[in-house]
Amino acid sequence: MTKLNGSAANILAAFDPSTLIKNTSHEHHSRKAAMNNTITVHFTAADGTRTSIEGKTGKSLMDVATSKNLSGIAADCGGLMTCATCHVIVDPAYASQLPPADTEELAMLAFTAVPRQPNSRLSCQIVLSAALDGLSVTLPASQY
Ligand code: FES
Repeated sequence: MTKLNGSAANILAAFDPSTLIKNTSHEHHSRKAAMNNTITVHFTAADGTRTSIEGKTGKSLMDVATSKNLSGIAADCGGLMTCATCHVIVDPAYASQLPPADTEELAMLAFTAVPRQPNSRLSCQIVLSAALDGLSVTLPASQY
């Protein structure tokens, strides 16, 4: 039998298997995300069609959408924040987990085709992180 060194023994002593049962689905996804730097985001179109896409942390939500040619995200300026055609409405459960929009983003949100809502954001300004695994956004009926 292999003898554990001090640090390995401490890690095992600190391990509480009951936490595996208590974890919510979101925590499980976050752990998965932290391990492979990939999270899953969900887009719901105006007609109710839901599309789930995996994206790497560090990428923008707009990058993830356009990499799969998701209709409903035009992103004409490619993330330079000059078009407002990457408008999304963030699920309230995730809205508070995002850094607040800066003054430039707030200014551009005045130019969305569909009037902005309280949780409206520009998807090019949302950077994916493990904490955002499961992020859900709704797409406006039009970006033009
Ligand atoms: S892609 Fe143009 S403002 Fe976001």
